[in-house]
Order: sequence, then structure tokens, then C-alpha cells
Amino acid sequence: MVCHYGTDLKEMVETVERYTHHGKVADYIPALSKANPTDVGIAIFDGHDTCFSEGQHRKLFTLQSISKILTLALALMDHGEEVVFSKVGMEPTGDPFNSIAKLESHIPSKPLNPMINAGALAVSSLIKGSSNEEKLDRLLQFVRELSGNQSITYNAEVAKSEFDTADLNRSLSYFMKQHGVINGDVDVLLDFYTKQCAIEVDCEDLAKIGFALAHHGEHPDKNYSIIPFEIARLVKTFMVTCGMYNASGEFAIRVGIPAKSGVSGGIVGAVPGGIGIGLYGPALDDKGNSIAGMKLLELLSAKYHLSIF
Ligand code: DON
Repeated sequence: MVCHYGTDLKEMVETVERYTHHGKVADYIPALSKANPTDVGIAIFDGHDTCFSEGQHRKLFTLQSISKILTLALALMDHGEEVVFSKVGMEPTGDPFNSIAKLESHIPSKPLNPMINAGALAVSSLIKGSSNEEKLDRLLQFVRELSGNQSITYNAEVAKSEFDTADLNRSLSYFMKQHGVINGDVDVLLDFYTKQCAIEVDCEDLAKIGFALAHHGEHPDKNYSIIPFEIARLVKTFMVTCGMYNASGEFAIRVGIPAKSGVSGGIVGAVPGGIGIGLYGPALDDKGNSIAGMKLLELLSAKYHLSIF
């Protein structure tokens, strides 16, 4: 099949490689600091058998915050909107992803949205299952179905590395427990959350997940629904308003593609009715987004008129 993206991808990846020198690999989760800062990879899935890809697209990396859109979808499928949005709001914060500030300044004291850490922790506490093992199994099955890759699992070393150092996320959780947003044992929640964040994918897996979201939650290869239409719409809306944290406004203007980033350097993009994009570039900007990944999305969006606005 002739690929109209393929010819440009190589050139675009080469163009953005130099931006990696202005970024920094995350090291507050010690295991993430092993990443190679100059790596850049991309895959595009257009619904056919072909994933157009370039650079380090087969390298595995952990989902980190990208997992937040998946747990949000699953929690909404488990409980519906009323329950989920009684625990978490729908507004962007303009604050860093791990900020505690607005938990105290907003009454009622629930996190402002499901993409910041506090909101994601509240959402993770809602995933159905009688044990963390069962919850994680359900989440993994969901990710495997969305990506069409049955071998996806989590990286135990990264999960442990985060669990051992996640004192800020513990603080957010204890604060929310005190205010009745979550209940139960905080370390049990942290155990699940850190494993969820450590689910490992490559760019092609991410591109397929993005494609499924872009197509109202349908299976990337088989045309049946995995995520209900309304939930896929809602998740994509959060990707636009909060997916790139306190860079979401500028990203909407410069790129205009629903997207979600993670501190491992991954970004998933979902062009509604169009392609799914998976990116990897572990050198991050000061807001925790892949510096090369954002630039690559900007180039792609401009070249192929992918902005939804
Ligand atoms: O909770 C954390 O801090 C990480 N597991 C995930 C944060 C993250 O990916 C923010 N993204 N840019």
C-alpha cells in the first residue's frame, strides 16, 4: 500500500531529533532515568494492516500518565458518569500534573480533572475488582484489546521504583482519603496505580489505542465496539482540555489533536475519524511532555491539516 505519511516521517523525525537536547529524562521515578534522551520514535495507524513508523518505534516504554485515559474509560464503563464525576471534576487546572494546591483551595475538595495525578488516583480507586490482581488483569485485557497486542504487560521494575518513591502521590491520596474522595488503604491504591502507570507498550501499540479512540472506541482491526461511543467522546474531550497538563492550551492552538502524554516520553494522539498516533521521546520539557514528540505532532498537524479546530 502506498503511504502518504511514510515519505515525510523520516525527515520529520530527523528534524525533531535536535530538540531532544533541550529536554531532560524524568528521574523522580528512578527507573525512568535509564532512558536514552535522544531516542525518538513514531507510529501512525490508519486502520489498515500497515503501521507507518520511523525511529525507535519498537522500543518499549511505560504508559505513565497515558494510562489515565484508559482507567478513566474503564471506570466510566464500570460505574457510569454520575459516580465517576462525583469523585473527580471536569476542569483544567493550569497547574503541574502533581500539584496538591487546588485540592485544598477548592470546595468540595475533589480533584479538578482525571488527568492530573490526584484525579487519576481517585479514578483508579474506582476500577472494579476484588483484588489489585483482578483490577490489573481487567485493565491489561482492556489495553490488549484496544491495541490488538495480547502480549502487553507491566514492567515490575518501573512499578516498584515508583512505588518506593511515590511520597507525593501518597500525600495526595491521604488528603483525598481524609476528605472522603477515596477510601481504603492508600498503599493498596498506590500498588495498583504504580502498576497501571508501568504498563509497557511501543509506538505501534499506542497508535492503535489512539486509532480506537479516534473511531469511537472501536477495535482497531475488527470493527466492534470496545469503548462506548459516548465514553470515547468524553475521553477525547479531556485529552484536548487537560491531556498535556498546563501546556494543553498552547498545544490545542499549535497542534489541535486530542492527545495524552506520559513522563516516560510517550504521547498518544487520536485524530477523530482519522489516524491514531503513537510517539516516544523521553527527553521532556519543563511541564513533563516529550519535547520531540510535541514538535513532531506540530509538524504532522501542519503538514496534513490534522487540527480538529
Ligand atoms: O504519578 C506519576 O507521577 C507518574 N506515574 C505519572 C505522571 C506522568 O506521566 C505525568 N506526565 N506527563
